[in-house]
Amino acid sequence: MVITDKGKSDSDKMPEVSPAEAKVLKFLTELKKDTLPISEANIEVEGLNEREISSAISWLEKKELINVQKTEHHTFLLTEEGRKFIKEGLPEERAFQLSEKNKGTTPSEIMKQLGSKDGKIAIAQLAKLGIKPSQGIIDVSRGIGNIEEIFIRRKSFLAGLPESAISDPDTLEHFKKREDIIAEKKRTERTVAPTDLGMRLSKVVTTEDVVSEVTPEILQNESWKGRNFRRYDLNAPVERINSAVYHPITFLIEKVRRIFLDMGFTEMTGHYVEYAGWNMDSLFIPQDHPARDMQDTFYLDSDREIPFEDSEAMKIFRKVHENGIEGYSGWGYRWKEEIAREKVLRTHTTVSTIRYLYKHKESPQAAFSVEKVFRHESVDWKHLAELHQIEGTYYAKDANLSTLFWLMKEFYGRLGFHDLKFIPSYYPYTEPSLDVVVNINGKEMELGGSGVFRPEVTRPLGLKEPVVAWGLGLERLAMIYYGFEDIRDIYRTDIDWLRKFPLRF
Ligand code: PHE
Repeated sequence: MVITDKGKSDSDKMPEVSPAEAKVLKFLTELKKDTLPISEANIEVEGLNEREISSAISWLEKKELINVQKTEHHTFLLTEEGRKFIKEGLPEERAFQLSEKNKGTTPSEIMKQLGSKDGKIAIAQLAKLGIKPSQGIIDVSRGIGNIEEIFIRRKSFLAGLPESAISDPDTLEHFKKREDIIAEKKRTERTVAPTDLGMRLSKVVTTEDVVSEVTPEILQNESWKGRNFRRYDLNAPVERINSAVYHPITFLIEKVRRIFLDMGFTEMTGHYVEYAGWNMDSLFIPQDHPARDMQDTFYLDSDREIPFEDSEAMKIFRKVHENGIEGYSGWGYRWKEEIAREKVLRTHTTVSTIRYLYKHKESPQAAFSVEKVFRHESVDWKHLAELHQIEGTYYAKDANLSTLFWLMKEFYGRLGFHDLKFIPSYYPYTEPSLDVVVNINGKEMELGGSGVFRPEVTRPLGLKEPVVAWGLGLERLAMIYYGFEDIRDIYRTDIDWLRKFPLRF
């Protein structure tokens, strides 16, 4: 829009208006004083439809150029049900006619003829009019007053809506209490009048045609040529927009994935529900190992089959557990397939590694995953029952402890943690076993386990070279990465807190 030079000092402080707003404002200020305020419905401006006028009014009000008064109007309209009753007659009327025709009727006959919903209404309404069954018979000749007149009044009320709601308030009250025949509709009427500021602005404002939006059409047909453009205030204050960012846990998962992908690892995926056989037996964990206890592992009571063919693998597990392999004695007990066929929520993603290597026996292999595992833990500041593991394996002729050290140093180094320590540990499936500890600001945090798989794990599956593997806690890592004191913080969802982490790649 264009503000003319007239009254420049004044117009400097004046709000800007769009051409549509200018037109509406002009219309209002040109009206005779005694016609103000005017109802929105009576505003007619050339070139503007109802919606555009309505939007212009809202903007003019915001800019304090007009005063707007709102009045609520209630109107009553017929519902679908109401329309049906006009056509078929009200239920009470139909029941009345039935009784009249048969010289008395019964409630069950009414229900039969009208259906149970309308039948119930009819009986209740007749009762209100004083017609109640006596010895099981509804006889309308015992009614009080002229009942038919009431029916006519009710029907003409329905047919006469919305006006009849004003002319017959008694019947309105009646139908308001009945369900679903009439519906109340609220409409807000706005009446408007220009303010002093609006009056002054309308004198300097022009409604001249301006280009307010540059569209491809305007550019193509060159119709913008010779026209004025709407002015934009580039310094106008705007609302702050919070754009989408990553949740801290998603961000860290993504970061970890990118590191391993960059290092040439292949991503593995697995399954929440696993056979105990793969989760444990494949890793040479004896069937009476305490970790298999209900205390630590969630067992599933389900007959659903897991859709993998595992009988070959189960045979292998039995052989290793019962008899060992050449040079290694095994556990020497009777291995039970039922135990291996129990279903568990996987307690670690090392099960994915084992499945992966079983399928990819040719070396070298480098694979990783960042996936969820489940443990029967009581949740506290350092423990979760549902957590992610950063799992990985390197299977190659030259794989050894140094490779493992190097891989861990490289991985954590890329996340910014350079002070690592490996301490001797124990896992039934690795030898040696090492736990990874990170030193951060003088505090040590244990991040997970690692090691070289025992021959009892690798050889029976047909893996001929050494395999190094690790399973690291993602949430523990998140604690030190973000500086959380409590591991549960990672799963917070309140938006104000999350906005403190503007995480993007
Ligand atoms: N699976 C072990 C755990 O859940 C970690 C681990 C993985 C240890 C691979 C050694 C080798 O803690």
